[in-house]
Amino acid sequence: MSGNIKNMSLRIQEVPVSEAPIELLLLADPSEEKVRSYLPRSQCFVASSHGAVVGAGVVQPLRAGAHELMNIAVPPRHQKCGHGTALLKWMVAFFRESGATQLEVGTGTFGYQLAFYQRHGFRATRIDHDFFVNNYPEPVFENGMQHFDMLRLTLRY
Ligand SMILES: CC(C)(COP(=O)(O)OP(=O)(O)OC[C@H]1O[C@@H](n2cnc3c(N)ncnc32)[C@H](O)[C@@H]1OP(=O)(O)O)[C@@H](O)C(=O)NCCC(=O)NCCS
Repeated sequence: MSGNIKNMSLRIQEVPVSEAPIELLLLADPSEEKVRSYLPRSQCFVASSHGAVVGAGVVQPLRAGAHELMNIAVPPRHQKCGHGTALLKWMVAFFRESGATQLEVGTGTFGYQLAFYQRHGFRATRIDHDFFVNNYPEPVFENGMQHFDMLRLTLRY
């Protein structure tokens, strides 16, 4: 898929990584250092509506045919409106059309994000035990629960 799409008022397009909305990406990954470290070798996609950024996704090549979704985020006031789903579907289609064989993502072992990915065909393939303990300077909490392990999910095309 190339160029832009307009889905009702939603426009999704690839932007230069220098224009990535860092503040928004920090919603999905609390380490700015990490976000800035994977951005230069990634592609960034932005969803906008009526001129406002309502979503962003970052995908990095892993090896031949394989890519990793490093980040996807929708501003809190725009969540639960379908923008995240539209952006994820768009990126899945974009990499399918580019000839990719699989798209991976790492996420916590609990939370609504698990259903979000699995609904689109991602399947659990591995657990990185203590990933969030070993890779972040501060404990990572969601809804009062600490994230310890990362679940690796893979969408095979
Ligand atoms: C994950 C995220 C990108 C989804 O975007 P979104 O625009 O809210 O998603 P959608 O509106 O398409 O909804 C997808 C599903 O997620 C659910 N959802 C979205 N935000 C939610 C929230 N804060 N709490 C609980 N469920 C939520 C929706 O209810 C919907 O489920 P349903 O189909 O059963 O109703 C967005 O919630 C987000 O930015 N979260 C914070 C960052 C994050 O966790 N990123 C993923 C890292 S692994």
